[in-house]
Amino acid sequence: MKNFQVTMGHIEGVPLLGATCDEWDTIYNFQAREDDILIATYPKAGTTWMQEIVDLILQEGDVQKSMRAPCYVKVPFIDLVPMKPMPTGVELAQRMASPRILKTHLPINLLPPSFWEKNVKVVYVARNAKDCMVSYYYFQKINKGLPDPGTWDNYFSAFLSGDVPWGSWFDHVLGWWKAVDKHQILFVFYEDMIKDPMHEIQKVMKFLGKDLSDEVLENIKFHTSFQAMKENPMTNYSTLPNIVFDQTISPFMRKGIVGDWKTHFLVAQNIIFDEEYKKKMEGSGLNFHSEL
Ligand code: PPS
Repeated sequence: MKNFQVTMGHIEGVPLLGATCDEWDTIYNFQAREDDILIATYPKAGTTWMQEIVDLILQEGDVQKSMRAPCYVKVPFIDLVPMKPMPTGVELAQRMASPRILKTHLPINLLPPSFWEKNVKVVYVARNAKDCMVSYYYFQKINKGLPDPGTWDNYFSAFLSGDVPWGSWFDHVLGWWKAVDKHQILFVFYEDMIKDPMHEIQKVMKFLGKDLSDEVLENIKFHTSFQAMKENPMTNYSTLPNIVFDQTISPFMRKGIVGDWKTHFLVAQNIIFDEEYKKKMEGSGLNFHSEL
């Protein structure tokens, strides 16, 4: 049992969606299994994309099987706070047969310890902060369970100071990055997935101990392309009613590109951002390779 420091919407100082201490205790005490695969990300980093890749690898490229349920049902989101009458991610996961694929946005210090006790394999997807910010801004507009993001100007400041659900992008990526040598963590970049999806899919396949033919891998690449996932009702969240995700405002599968921040950041914002970025990231060894 962890004695959480819970304040209004904050757990251990991290802004998380409103939940009681008991509910967070249930999440923190989640029981992982040895053959679980955990997909960990800061929000909007490419979680859903990686969920589909991992699921299709486990299903050996069988698309019909991968379409058995919407992505949020087949991959329980363990830190989703209870929204009755919907089952929580923890409840969904408990009912699920192994091997399970699980999703979390938790910063590493809040991850249920059983994941480490069971030495679970984790695929961490990191996406550059500027594109995460833009994607998250639109997502907070459409996701009725999240606070309204307000104006872009306000959101820019909130994101930079970590005052958004799941907290600071910097703390999140740096926390997980520092743990790479200590646990079974595959650290993957969204930008690399865009640049060479086949290479990244193969990396994930090897990490999961699988060996699939080139033909199967090509099929996985095809079915996890942005266009295929945008049209697939099991991955585009169209199965959720507008009252939950209002996709008339902006689609969940929005643009799926690198560098969309350039159409949103003002010149002055970019300077402020780059200064803050340098302060926080310098010396970390964590580099987002692609041209941003
Ligand atoms: S969530 O809500 O945190 O689980 O969202 P997440 O899935 O992490 O991120 C959503 C963004 O990822 C983009 N996406 C993709 N990009 C390229 N290719 C594929 N296949 C793909 N699938 C999802 C999605 O469009 C969101 O990014 P933006 O920039 O908003 O388009």
